Amino acid sequence: MLRPPYTRYERLYTYHLNLPTLPAIDDPDLIGTWIEDDSAILFFHRPKERLVQSLCEQSGATIIYEADLDYTDWEAGREIGPFTVGDLTVAPVWEPGGADIRLDPSVIFGSGFHPTTHLCLSALLSQLGAATRPITAALDLGCGTGLLAIAAAKRGVKRVVAVDNNPLACQVATANTALNGVADRVTVEQRDLRRDPPNTAGYDLVMANLYKGLMTELFSQEGFWQAPLHILSGFIPAMEEELLRALPANRVRFLDRRRAERWCLWVLAKA
Ligand SMILES: C[S@@+](CC[C@H](N)C(=O)[O-])C[C@H]1O[C@@H](n2cnc3c(N)ncnc32)[C@H](O)[C@@H]1O
Repeated sequence: MLRPPYTRYERLYTYHLNLPTLPAIDDPDLIGTWIEDDSAILFFHRPKERLVQSLCEQSGATIIYEADLDYTDWEAGREIGPFTVGDLTVAPVWEPGGADIRLDPSVIFGSGFHPTTHLCLSALLSQLGAATRPITAALDLGCGTGLLAIAAAKRGVKRVVAVDNNPLACQVATANTALNGVADRVTVEQRDLRRDPPNTAGYDLVMANLYKGLMTELFSQEGFWQAPLHILSGFIPAMEEELLRALPANRVRFLDRRRAERWCLWVLAKA
């Protein structure tokens, strides 16, 4: 996350270590740490060879790879700037001006520029505008930066639970909810949806921008289908057939189906 004196991301210095847990790193240039399975990826604003070597010596870890890259390369070559979906304006924190949502994208999925995030935001706004029954409680599964959860809260959803298994995503999403004045409406939970699948009863809407493998697992869970409305994305046309087969027969119907840059979105309602 951005901490003074940093006001934006320019270069990322990343170190991937085979180390399942890390001692606390007190370094002003640290952006954050991902823990994945038995490894950790450290992100810094500046090169940190000596610090990382000393971490390895203390802990017996080794460096799997290290890289330095432009922030735009991390964001798939896209310059992160303000954008609009429907009537909702979103801007990174370093841009001046009064966007509806201001976001620290950090190194977490959900800066808003991925076509799937756009698709989900657009479907969310349509559903909030069109829903025959009000959407007062929503679940954002795989929340990343928290953008979808924040958008829902900003547009009147009273209670949003945002879930991610990545601790850094949860920290970033929590900070972003505070930055946008919706911390009283959005609760961020660190949870692995694979190990601990959600029960969506009590929610009016589920938003899930995830990958196909996890989506298929969730589809097979009775608890996933308790909510009346689902916005689903994170898959490409070649994956749709398998996902269609995994849908619970006669339980859901399509309200909307869209594509953007070869990414798909489905909006499903209870049949
Ligand atoms: C494609 S990103 C979506 C981010 C954001 N919701 C958006 O639409 O831009 C998927 C997110 O799901 C999270 N995720 C992946 N596997 C997960 C799991 N097993 N449990 C919880 N979250 C998971 C990732 O950490 C990532 O932040």
